[in-house]
Amino acid sequence: MEEEIGLLGLGIMGMAMSRTLLRHGANLTVWNRTPSKCEQLVEYGASVAETAAAVVKKCKYTIAMLSDPSAALSVVFDKDGVLEQICKGKGYIDMSTVDADTSSKISEAITSKGGSFLEAPVSGSRKLAQDGELVILAAGVKALYEEAHCLFDIMGKKTFFLGHVGNGAKMKLLVNMLMGSEEPEIAGESVLHSRPLRVHLWLKIQLIFSFESTFAVRSHAITSLLKLLIPVCWLHFQREFYWLKKVNWTLNLFSTHWTEVDLLIHCY
Ligand SMILES: NC(=O)c1ccc[n+]([C@@H]2O[C@H](COP(=O)([O-])OP(=O)(O)OC[C@H]3O[C@@H](n4cnc5c(N)ncnc54)[C@H](OP(=O)(O)O)[C@@H]3O)[C@@H](O)[C@H]2O)c1
Repeated sequence: MEEEIGLLGLGIMGMAMSRTLLRHGANLTVWNRTPSKCEQLVEYGASVAETAAAVVKKCKYTIAMLSDPSAALSVVFDKDGVLEQICKGKGYIDMSTVDADTSSKISEAITSKGGSFLEAPVSGSRKLAQDGELVILAAGVKALYEEAHCLFDIMGKKTFFLGHVGNGAKMKLLVNMLMGSEEPEIAGESVLHSRPLRVHLWLKIQLIFSFESTFAVRSHAITSLLKLLIPVCWLHFQREFYWLKKVNWTLNLFSTHWTEVDLLIHCY
């Protein structure tokens, strides 16, 4: 890609993704809250900007890879942030793991300034980021997804477009639930730590959605799925009410994005 690409956030993942992009010849400008981390990338050809706003000013597409929702919001809304320079013709792609509400807030702000927004959380690790083998769960402006596809192809082995903003965040949660999680705070919320339990759940869901299933098979699968989920949900209800909302998101995603969920599972 000829255009200037920006990357905000040089933590474990952002650093590995930047190295991968540079290896593939991207014109990359980076910014990090702790500026010293940027220096490591200069010898690989990256330019360094002093603020997130300066990156957006220079670049057509800016990727963010930040630790959590508060970091993602701060980099967009605070002084010298993304919002100061985003405008028509520029795209902002947030690849951090954040909740759907945070993503929607960022999307609305970017769009109100004329920019395009994609959320694109990833499933993977530092090693997979280094090898360009991430699974990318994009949602938002389809045109930006298509324009940025070559960047996703460099960073990932498979990219999904999941429709409107929020679906990427929810699908990321679903992946964490099914596969376990690399992020402790989310892993702590996941009930499905045990592999046999996950496989059991997955088989029931397959039965419910499979075209070949008869009514009787489906109702049996639904009943036993509920028997599995209800105690699990109850346990978590006692600990954290918010978790139920996430279960609901997940079940909605199963029904609205069945094809993508099925394809996604086959990435593992
Ligand atoms: N690590 C994994 O294996 C993995 C896998 C899949 C997805 N993820 C997700 O990817 C994202 C990045 O993960 P990571 O492992 O790279 O995290 P990390 O190593 O902790 O890096 C976090 C980055 O966010 C920056 N940051 C934090 N708070 C900030 C703030 N208030 N303002 C500006 N910048 C701030 C940090 O800047 P400083 O350098 O200045 O601290 C750093 O660049 C997370 O959302 C994570 O859930 C991680």
